Amino acid sequence: TATQDDARQPKTDEDTAVPAATERSLIDVNPPRGTRDFPPEDMRLRNWLFRNFREVSSLMSFEEVDFPVLESEALFIRKGGEEITQQLYNFEDKGGRRVVLRPEITPSLARLVIKQGKSASLPLKWFTIGQCWRYERMTRGRRREHYQWNMDIIGLPKVRAEAELIHAIVLLFERVGITSSEVGIRISSRKVLQAVLQMHSIPEHLFAEVCVIVDKLGKVTREEIEKELMIAGVSFEAVKGIIEVLSIKSLSKLEEVLGSEGEAVTDLKSLFLLAEHYGYSQWINFDASVVRGLAYYTGVVFEAFDKEGKLRAICGGGRYDRLFSTFGSDNIPACGFGFGDAVILELLKEKGILPDLIRHVDDIVFPLDEELEGPASQIVSSLRQIGRSVDLIQDKRLKWVFKHAERINADRLILVGKSEWQSGAVRVKILATREEREVKVDELTSPS
Ligand code: HAM
Repeated sequence: TATQDDARQPKTDEDTAVPAATERSLIDVNPPRGTRDFPPEDMRLRNWLFRNFREVSSLMSFEEVDFPVLESEALFIRKGGEEITQQLYNFEDKGGRRVVLRPEITPSLARLVIKQGKSASLPLKWFTIGQCWRYERMTRGRRREHYQWNMDIIGLPKVRAEAELIHAIVLLFERVGITSSEVGIRISSRKVLQAVLQMHSIPEHLFAEVCVIVDKLGKVTREEIEKELMIAGVSFEAVKGIIEVLSIKSLSKLEEVLGSEGEAVTDLKSLFLLAEHYGYSQWINFDASVVRGLAYYTGVVFEAFDKEGKLRAICGGGRYDRLFSTFGSDNIPACGFGFGDAVILELLKEKGILPDLIRHVDDIVFPLDEELEGPASQIVSSLRQIGRSVDLIQDKRLKWVFKHAERINADRLILVGKSEWQSGAVRVKILATREEREVKVDELTSPS
């Protein structure tokens, strides 16, 4: 307030070197555009979500790994014109090395697999949760920093890997209260496009670039896509074939167009059959327009989306059997997904099913007298030693303490008073029942 500010004013110019309040200008209290602070209530929510990510990963028998957020730029330099490589937070460090704040985690994971070499016993099933940075145009659920839960299976060439990963995604949705009427998982395979390109004798080296262009369908006009494809060297006939095949929404129609022998059709049929055995068929559907925007996917690709179509993809992934060779190693079959923290929380908020995560503490200890600071510290210490969470309060009115106990959802309030302490006791109030009694200090820490 003005009076408080006045009170802080220096009496004379020589009083202090700190500038007067009127000369001070407050720093910008907002974090950099596109990034977030996590005040306690947001942090509780984030921890809750991450706990679910970890629990599902553990149900799936995946091991947790971690990587630096700062990586070598070289790891993210790729051909194919992907958006992600144009959104890098890249710079030179003080030692003159080109580095990036990672925009995704998959290249780091591949790097570690290569580093482990023959000592790694395949298949590896790894998960991680980490922050990623992309200089994005901001939209709802898309920001410049986000956390991603990744699950990857390295060393399994069959669609069993995809089936397991999709099961993990379904388990996560079920745990957070999302149903298959609200969210779906669209599945296709890049081998569908590959087959079309082969039919039109388009050279193999154009494959990744074509996928990246085609992924923009729906975001930019069809004419622009056609133009970009032709510039890349795809014939008019092939462009027509690609656009046609992308509109297919059923496996039987795909089989009619591509025949039943090709890998695209056999992979997808096996995956949909496995889904029936797992019991999650209602969550998935075939949609040839799913391509995903990353250049390294080679086979099955999938993404989860809200059925109302209000938000961007909730998660996305696929098979990347050739990424390892682009890093100079032998190829290893691999498959995985990234699941961001932002879109799912937007969706839960939209549905009104964000959990109500209230604080909880076991005990509050409050000395009624300044002289009792020592005894209060002793009590606090012994309670924490037996594993009870304790909030020690001082210099407040009793009324404030009661309000605080309610706010932080405490089980017990322990009042340390002079006369009780002299007889080795304290007053304990059970907050749920409002019952209050005198308790010997030894009893406080003995299991009830
Ligand atoms: P991605 O499709 O680029 O894939 O991103 C995966 C997920 O991360 C998205 O579906 C979304 O949930 C979240 N995400 C991405 N960008 C943003 C953003 N700017 N703001 C908020 N959330 C975002 C990958 O990154 C692959 N590396 C995933 C993967 C793992 N594929 C195989 N293994």
